[in-house]
Amino acid sequence: MAGKDHRHHHHSKKHTSNISFLLLSLLCLASLVAVFSLFKTSFSTPRRHRHTGTDHKASNATCDYSDGRWIYDPTVRSARYGSTCKEIYKGWNCMASNKSNALEIVKWRWQPNHCDLPQFDPLHFLQQHRDTNIGFIGDSLNRNMFVSLFCTLKRVSGEVRKWRPAGADRAFTFLQYNLTIAYHRTNLLARYGRWSANRNGGVLESLGYKEGYRVDVDLPDGTWAEALSFHDILIFNTGHWWWAPSKFDPAKSPMLFFEKGQPLVPPVSPDVGLDIVLKRMMSYVEERIRPSAIIFFRTQSPRHFEGGDWDQGGSCQRLQPLSPEMVEEFFSVKNNGTNVEVRLVNQHLYKAIKGSPFSLLDITRMSESRADAHPSTAGGKKHDDCMHWCLPGITDTWNDLLLAHLNDIEVRT
Ligand SMILES: *[C@@H]1O[C@H](CO)[C@@H](O)[C@H](O)[C@H]1NC(C)=O
Ligand SMILES: *[C@@H]1O[C@H](CO)[C@@H](O)[C@H](O)[C@H]1NC(C)=O
Ligand SMILES: *[C@@H]1O[C@H](CO)[C@@H](O)[C@H](O)[C@H]1NC(C)=O
Ligand SMILES: *[C@@H]1O[C@H](CO)[C@@H](O)[C@H](O)[C@H]1NC(C)=O
Repeated sequence: MAGKDHRHHHHSKKHTSNISFLLLSLLCLASLVAVFSLFKTSFSTPRRHRHTGTDHKASNATCDYSDGRWIYDPTVRSARYGSTCKEIYKGWNCMASNKSNALEIVKWRWQPNHCDLPQFDPLHFLQQHRDTNIGFIGDSLNRNMFVSLFCTLKRVSGEVRKWRPAGADRAFTFLQYNLTIAYHRTNLLARYGRWSANRNGGVLESLGYKEGYRVDVDLPDGTWAEALSFHDILIFNTGHWWWAPSKFDPAKSPMLFFEKGQPLVPPVSPDVGLDIVLKRMMSYVEERIRPSAIIFFRTQSPRHFEGGDWDQGGSCQRLQPLSPEMVEEFFSVKNNGTNVEVRLVNQHLYKAIKGSPFSLLDITRMSESRADAHPSTAGGKKHDDCMHWCLPGITDTWNDLLLAHLNDIEVRT
């Protein structure tokens, strides 16, 4: 990190105009949540089921899939889909952009320590989820996961209809199976927009606020507010945008939280705001989902910027996963490094999810070591992308995890 400050100053001027680009890349994120609580039949007995089964499948359900390691397996058959899958955003298509290790990325296999993570079987998945709607609700990292699932399924079932149900940014129905997967784009889950001081004054004005972002903690973003009655399986995330000072600058454009249309006074920090938003949005979901719905919250996706943050010339040029020691160096909260937000966000998520019907899709641990799996400079971007993931790549494994949790839940009900 010796060169960090240097680079930082050097680059920051020339990049100020690229903030919006940056923000785009921030979108991504997120988190997943494993799905323990799926209840095809009843909403009232969520997690408990996991522990009561006696058959071996159910006992697998108690396995902590997030506890494991990556094993290099050069014999791995080719990736589960190719670079020609049209939904792969150019900046994530590491094979097409000739990223030097693009083919190596998928040769690492996640091995949980106490069980196996089955390989995704797309045909079986389609058959199992006939007449089902699956929604990914969150930032661009949830989109990254959504695209992985789309490409995986498209390869075995080519007849799809593209459309936009219930506020979705995009959705695809696999016609032969009447299975729809949708991506609903939202950065904070809650609705937000620009705020500026009113000449007539108000409580925020009297406290000296001039500009900022109004975040309505009790109002879901319009992109997903209507989605809950549509989907059978939902995967939520939020996180990166809460740590995006280039947009929500604490001094120049702070987040200003509102509830029931009124500003929260005294104003609260984004930390506290995140807790409130998670709580309100989760209740909103619980009150409105279908009785049989399965809901996941995905944990935070780690970034791997080295030598500075994304707007400070930070890069990610590693060709191998990080060792456990390096992982700690990168992410421990104590070190307060560039990418520290991953574990901070998770602390908020764990707190919010505890005791709720959401299942946690814990992708953080498996992803923390994969500094090699980001697009980096692939795709000709101005800044290195050390936040999103190459496709094919590790969000494929996130979907393996989703599937394992779904199977565990569906077996029980
Ligand atoms: C990647 O390599 C192929 C084959 O050498 C070449 O045709 C293609 O233009 C390259 N793509 C990029 C984005 O550089
Ligand atoms: C569950 O356990 C059975 C028997 O121990 C094993 O064959 C199977 O692979 C396990 N499944 C998972 C998902 O680990
Ligand atoms: C497709 O699935 C939806 C439920 O997701 C159902 O309402 C609809 O009737 C199904 N359509 C057909 C043609 O079976
Ligand atoms: C962590 O680092 C950031 C920027 O490098 C700094 O602004 C912040 O005050 C630090 N936080 C702690 C708790 O040390």
